[in-house]
Amino acid sequence: MSHFWKPGTEKPRIVDDEEGGVLFLSTAASSSSSSGFGYGSMEKQRQRLPVYKYRTAILYLVETHATSIIVGETGSGKTTQIPQYLKEAGWADGGRVIACTQPRRLAVQSVAARVAEEMGVKLGEEVGYTIRFEDLTNTNTTMIKFLTDGVLLREMMDDPLLTKYSVIMVDEAHERSISTDILLGLLKKIQRRRPELRLIISSATIEAKSMSAFFQTSKRRRLEGEELGPRMEPAILSVEGRGFNVQIHFAEEPVSDYVQAVVSTVLSIHNQEPMGDILVFLTGQDDIDTAVKLLNEEAQSNGKNSSGLLVLPLYSGLPRAEQELIFTPTPRGKRKVVISTNIAETSLTLEGIVYVVDSGFSKQRFYNPISDIENLVVAPISKASARQRAGRAGRVRPGKCYRLYTEEYFVNEMSAEGIPEMQRSNLVSCVIQLKALGIDNILGFDWPASPSPEAMIRALEVLYSLGVLDDDAKLTSPAGFQVAEIPLEPMISKMILSSNELGCSEEILTIAAILSIQSIWVSGRGVQKELDEAKLRFAAAEGDHVTFLNVYKGFLQSGKSSQWCHKNHVNYQAMKKVIEIRGQLRRIAQRLGIVLKSCEGDMKAVRKAVTAGFFANACRLEAFSHSGMYKTVRGSQEVYIHPSSVLFRVNPKWVIFHSLVSTDRQYMRNVISIDPSWLREAAPHFYQHQPHNAIGH
Ligand code: CDP
Ligand code: MG
Repeated sequence: MSHFWKPGTEKPRIVDDEEGGVLFLSTAASSSSSSGFGYGSMEKQRQRLPVYKYRTAILYLVETHATSIIVGETGSGKTTQIPQYLKEAGWADGGRVIACTQPRRLAVQSVAARVAEEMGVKLGEEVGYTIRFEDLTNTNTTMIKFLTDGVLLREMMDDPLLTKYSVIMVDEAHERSISTDILLGLLKKIQRRRPELRLIISSATIEAKSMSAFFQTSKRRRLEGEELGPRMEPAILSVEGRGFNVQIHFAEEPVSDYVQAVVSTVLSIHNQEPMGDILVFLTGQDDIDTAVKLLNEEAQSNGKNSSGLLVLPLYSGLPRAEQELIFTPTPRGKRKVVISTNIAETSLTLEGIVYVVDSGFSKQRFYNPISDIENLVVAPISKASARQRAGRAGRVRPGKCYRLYTEEYFVNEMSAEGIPEMQRSNLVSCVIQLKALGIDNILGFDWPASPSPEAMIRALEVLYSLGVLDDDAKLTSPAGFQVAEIPLEPMISKMILSSNELGCSEEILTIAAILSIQSIWVSGRGVQKELDEAKLRFAAAEGDHVTFLNVYKGFLQSGKSSQWCHKNHVNYQAMKKVIEIRGQLRRIAQRLGIVLKSCEGDMKAVRKAVTAGFFANACRLEAFSHSGMYKTVRGSQEVYIHPSSVLFRVNPKWVIFHSLVSTDRQYMRNVISIDPSWLREAAPHFYQHQPHNAIGH
C-alpha cells in the first residue's frame, strides 16, 4: 500500500490530545489532488463540500491508524465522499471492497444512488448496495458497497472476518442502533485478527472520546517487527461544517395536537416567510400521511393560502419513485414541504431547506424486561436530536426552526442525550446472532453500552423455549442454526420451521412476508370508513393472519392487478414487495429442507404454526371485561386489540399478537385467536410455571 501524499509536500500537522488519540489539524488541506477527474459541475459540487478540504488528512489517518473516528455535521459529505476518496486512493484495488454501513435502509438506497451518479456508473456495478431482501451488487465489479449494519452482521455468518473488505465505514454511529453497537463490538474483535482492516466510525455528533476509549487497544503490546502496521489507538478528526445561523422559535403554550400544529405552522410560514423549503419532523407513517392529506386539502379548498405548496412524505418503506421526488430540485415558484420521520435528522441531506418544524417527538422502541413487553412508543426526543433537527434549516442560508414545545420544556425536561437502542430493546434477535457467530459468553461481550442483565436473561429464556438454545445456552442443531439463518425475527423463523411439520409452509411463508413489511393497507385519516369496509371483505374469524391469506389470494386471483388493489384499499407497492420477499423466503426455506406444502384451508394448522413461534405473546381476555381488556399470560400486562385488527370488538377469549404499539393504552397489532392447550404443546418449559388455571381449558 502506498502512502497518500507525495514526498515534498508538507506533512499534515498532528497533535496528540490528552486522551492519547490523535487530533488532526487541517493545514495540508489544499494539497490533495483528485487527479483524473476533469469533468463537469458534479466534480465542482464535490469539491465544495466541507469534507473535501480534509481529503488528504482522512486518507492519511486511514493509512496509519486501525480506527479513525470522523465527526462532521450532516451534509458535510462524509457518507458520499469518503468511500470515493478511499476508492480513488486504491483501497478497492485487487478485488477488495469498501463498505459503508447505515442504520436505515432508505439511506442505503439513497446514498448509493447518489454516489453511483457522482461516479458516472450504473448502480449495482462499481457502486452497489445491499439491504435485507434486496441485493444490488456485483461480486466481480462492486468496489464501494453501501449496506445496512444488520446486513453486514449477517455477512459475518458466512465470512466471520469479513475478508473481502479493506475498509469498513460504520456511519451514523451516533444513532447507536442495536446493530451498530453489535457491529462495533465484533469489529473490534476482527481487528485483532486482521490488522490490515481499517475502520472508520463516522457520525454527526458523537461522544468521540468514549468511542475512542472503546477502540483503544493500547494494552496490547506491539510485537517485534510489527512497527510497520497501523497505530492501534484511534484517530479523531473533526470536519468543520459551515452551517448558517438558525433562529429558534418555541411554542408559547404546550401543543395538544401536534399534527394539527404542524399544519398550521406550515401554512403560516408559507404565508409570512420568504421562499425556501420546509422540513417537518413527525413520528411515523400514520402522522405523516395525515399531515400530508390535511395540507393538500387545505391547498385545494383554500387556494390563496396554500397555492404553490408541494407536500411530500418521507419515511422508510416509501417506494423508490416517491423517494426521488424528495431529492429533485423544487420547481420555480413552488415551496417544497417534506414531512419526515427522524430519517431526515442526520441520515439524509435535503437541499434547499430553510425552515424546520420540529414536533419534538419520534417513534422509539422501548422494552421492559420485567413485563417482557417491547413496543413502539411516540416519545419525546433528546436535546441532541432537537439541535440536529434545527441544524437542517441552516444548510444553504440562515434559517428558522419552529419547535412545537415550550422553551421551558426544552430546558428543564428534555433529556440531554438519547438512550442507545441496545438498552431499550428486546434482545432475542441480538442474542441469536451472537450465538450464531460463536460468541458464547454474551454477558461478558465487549459492548459499547452494556444491555441490562434482565433483558439478556429474558432473551435467553425465550430462545430456550423456542428450542433454539439448549441447556448449555448453545444453538441447537438443526433448529437453532436454521432459525439463525432465516433473516427474520427468531419468532417468525420458528413459525416457518414449525409449518413444515404442520404441513402449511406455503401459507406461513405468505404470513411471514406480510408481517415483515409495515402494512398492506392504504392508510390515512378520512379513509378509515372505506378501509374498514374493504377489510370486511377479507376478514377471517380466526384473525389478522388468516385475513392476510385472503388478501394475498385475492391479489393473485386478480392477476396482481393495481386496480384491484386500489378498489380494495390494498397498497399495491406493498403487495409487490410481499411477492418478492415471499419468493426469497421460499428459496431460503427450500435450502433448509422445508417441504413447500399448502394445508388447503386447514386454518388450525396455520394457527398452530403461529403459536409455535409466538407463544410468548399469548393473552387472555379478562373475564367480565366489557372493555375488551386482555392480560398477557406471562407478566399479566393489560393489553387491548388494536382498532385496525379484524378482531377488534370480536374479542376471542385467547389470542396471540405479533407486536404492540402504545398510545393511551398498549394495543396488540396483528392478532390471531388460539386454543390455549396449544401453548403448553408449543412451549412446555415456558408455561410450566403458570398456575394451571392461567392457561386452563
Ligand atoms: O454524510 P453527510 O451528512 O456528511 O453528507 P452526505 O450525505 O455525503 O451529503 C453530501 C452532499 O451530497 C449533500 O450536501 C447533498 O448536497 C448531496 N447529496 C445529494 O444531493 N443527494 C443525495 N441523495 C445525497 C447527497
Ligand atoms: Mg451521512
